[in-house]
Amino acid sequence: MTNMFKDIIQKLYETQNITDDEIKLLIDLPESEAAPLREAALKRRREYYGNDVFIRGLIEFSNYCKNNCYYCGIRAGNTQVERYHLTKDQILQCCDTGYTLSFRTFVLQGGEDLSYSDDDICDIVSSIKKAYPDCAVTLSIGEKSKETYQAYFDAGATRYLLRHETATPDHYAHLHPESMSLENRKQCLWNLKSIGFQVGAGFMVGSPGQTLDCLVADLRFLQELSPDMIGIGPFIPHAQTPFAHEPQGSLLRTLNLLSILRLMFPYVLLPSTTALGTIDPIGRELGLEAGANVVMPNLSPVDVRKFYALYDNKICMGDEAAQCIRCLGMRVKCVGFRIVEDIGNVRRSV
Ligand code: 5AD
Ligand code: FES
Repeated sequence: MTNMFKDIIQKLYETQNITDDEIKLLIDLPESEAAPLREAALKRRREYYGNDVFIRGLIEFSNYCKNNCYYCGIRAGNTQVERYHLTKDQILQCCDTGYTLSFRTFVLQGGEDLSYSDDDICDIVSSIKKAYPDCAVTLSIGEKSKETYQAYFDAGATRYLLRHETATPDHYAHLHPESMSLENRKQCLWNLKSIGFQVGAGFMVGSPGQTLDCLVADLRFLQELSPDMIGIGPFIPHAQTPFAHEPQGSLLRTLNLLSILRLMFPYVLLPSTTALGTIDPIGRELGLEAGANVVMPNLSPVDVRKFYALYDNKICMGDEAAQCIRCLGMRVKCVGFRIVEDIGNVRRSV
């Protein structure tokens, strides 16, 4: 058994590809057999990124959302959540704090909030770029028209995060209401790419109804898209959603997938996510040891954080940005890596 796993890992390391059945075996690799997979992923990671860990300042600027995804705590149908959105000045204040703390990328993330016009978003983006020309602005605000994405790009945003969530149409329909489609989601990603954005896609591990075939399809779609960033984290139920009683995603599967992703996409920017840190006290450290190379501390004002709950028990809710970065700096160091003050661009070759 062990030798068979080793052979598959070696093949993945050498060719960046394996068969569907081999992928399935590695996704469910038992903990006792996982060491060679972690080692290979770390070796690859070091070739491209050394011991560097990039940080992204996450600014959750709005929890209004027109969508009703069944898994998400800020879905439109959740009437119990208190809604907020930040003003441009509040967002710039977050960037100011972040810049002092050595962040050189700001990620503006929010629900699909119709109260910001395209011009509003462009104005916010260009104001950040003007104040911090040495920083990258990443947007993560959902599905828009190609024209709107182009306007964001022209305003100075160069990166966009839009998880595809699942590449299997039936599964997509199990996670989302009829008003949303996988086809449109994928089209958005292709549009973003063609405009010139550095694009991030990704999915939850263990979302309700997800099978091993779904995960294989996710990896195959990612191979087609060849994104610069891949965001994955365990599904975690939120009490005020239709999936309140579904089980959370598995830590081991998430770690195995991080390692597989590192080996399939050696260059990729791979965050060790807050969701991973939520299901295990050292989840983010384990994520780094599995091949992740990015962490995304929260720069949102502390008083609004509790309202941006996509899932239950989210960590770092009461901590100032300065506390988070200090805490993360130590955690990163404990597993042999170091946070760097860097814009953190993708390194497509060694
Ligand atoms: N558990 C884990 N991740 C979630 N997301 C949304 N809801 C949840 C949840 N309950 C993820 C989605 C989305 C990203 C911003 O957060 O994948 O794309
Ligand atoms: Fe808006 Fe899920 S309801 S992203």
